[in-house]
Amino acid sequence: MIGRKSTGRVSPILLVLLALGFSFATYNLLSIVIHNKASYSALLLADESELLKEPVIWRAENASRAGNLNSKFHVALTATDAPYSQWQSRIMYYWYKKVQGMPGSDMGNFTRVLHSGNADNLMDEIPTVVVDPLPEGLDQGYIVLNRPWAFVQWLEKATIEEEYILMAEPDHIFVNPLPNLAHGNSPAGFPFFYIKPAENARIIRKFYPKEKGPVTDVDPIGNSPVIIKKSLLEEIAPTWVNISLRMKDDVETDKAFGWVLEMYAYAVASALHGVQHVLRKDFMLQPPWDLEVGKRFIIHYTYGCDYNLKGELTYGKVGKWRFDKRSYLSGPPPRNLSLPPPGVPESVVRLVKMVNEATANIPGWDID
Ligand SMILES: *[C@@H]1O[C@H](CO)[C@@H](O)[C@H](O)[C@H]1NC(C)=O
Ligand SMILES: *[C@@H]1O[C@H](CO)[C@@H](O)[C@H](O)[C@H]1NC(C)=O
Ligand SMILES: *[C@@H]1O[C@H](CO)[C@@H](O)[C@H](O)[C@H]1NC(C)=O
Ligand SMILES: *[C@@H]1O[C@H](CO)[C@@H](O)[C@H](O)[C@H]1NC(C)=O
Repeated sequence: MIGRKSTGRVSPILLVLLALGFSFATYNLLSIVIHNKASYSALLLADESELLKEPVIWRAENASRAGNLNSKFHVALTATDAPYSQWQSRIMYYWYKKVQGMPGSDMGNFTRVLHSGNADNLMDEIPTVVVDPLPEGLDQGYIVLNRPWAFVQWLEKATIEEEYILMAEPDHIFVNPLPNLAHGNSPAGFPFFYIKPAENARIIRKFYPKEKGPVTDVDPIGNSPVIIKKSLLEEIAPTWVNISLRMKDDVETDKAFGWVLEMYAYAVASALHGVQHVLRKDFMLQPPWDLEVGKRFIIHYTYGCDYNLKGELTYGKVGKWRFDKRSYLSGPPPRNLSLPPPGVPESVVRLVKMVNEATANIPGWDID
């Protein structure tokens, strides 16, 4: 389990950041979520064809195992105490427990890094470390800015036995036992089609100066999923806090990067430390765009899955059959969701079955 070092002092990083001075604004969570959804749809309309192409698999040299002596990685899930985050976290942890011990897994222990500042009602169910959110207003309503700060605090206060860390999110489901995809000092990340450092060179250059190297050093990734050596993350995380707050505070950058700002911030921060990621397309699949689970490791259910009763995708239009995490903003989905109609891709069927299995077996699912 996680030990605690006493940390009475106030982090110097936070003081530095506070000294930089940021403008304050508040939005509510709901508007962020809805905004995100709209942006997702817009992105997909523009770029969906790229997703539908046969996924390219950039394999690290002989991919499946890291071959490191201590190759276990700690699973770190950043989450909040909002019901929306909680039900996803419970499903996520359920599947972690199921696959952790399977052959091929290098998964070590698990921590939910709860960045809402207070213990919640899942402390007994999920191993959790509570950290503070950014001081009020600093996130300007963009709650994911709390993630880098959560990692800084967690790395400072926790004793983590594993040499590596997986940064995970509540809407991840482990569908196959996950090996350590990192290689020594090369972390592994998932290439997101919409993270395009080269196409945003002018903005990237505000944070990644010429003397550091070409813009293409910045990987097309976010912080999650990433498997990275703990010692490297300890170096990168404070820079990531810094860059994400500076990006948020820069009007042009905020506008250009929108809801993926924090992903760019991680990509830039890691590049600033000279860290490049092995890009693993097989790290995750994203229904409904990826049709089959195959040998991929994590189902990321960030996109709504809408189908008509003929099993045809109606993306962007509410389907007669649907599974969309955003249908459950204020509380968990019920147990035993109806399975999709015939003709719906295996990835979507699998996702709903996995959600159903978790909710059927997690005690007290509906109570609350
Ligand atoms: C994992 O947690 C268990 C108990 O929760 C503890 O005994 C063990 O030492 C931990 N292992 C690692 C690698 O941290
Ligand atoms: C990768 O696998 C191939 C074929 O199995 C082998 O020839 C090669 O040496 C391996 N590379 C590494 C780095 O293990
Ligand atoms: C954060 O950014 C500021 C402004 O560029 C810089 O002065 C400071 O050293 C940075 N702090 C950290 C911890 O990276
Ligand atoms: C789940 O729902 C289906 C109908 O959609 C029903 O036939 C089945 O009995 C239900 N299972 C449980 C365990 O409630």
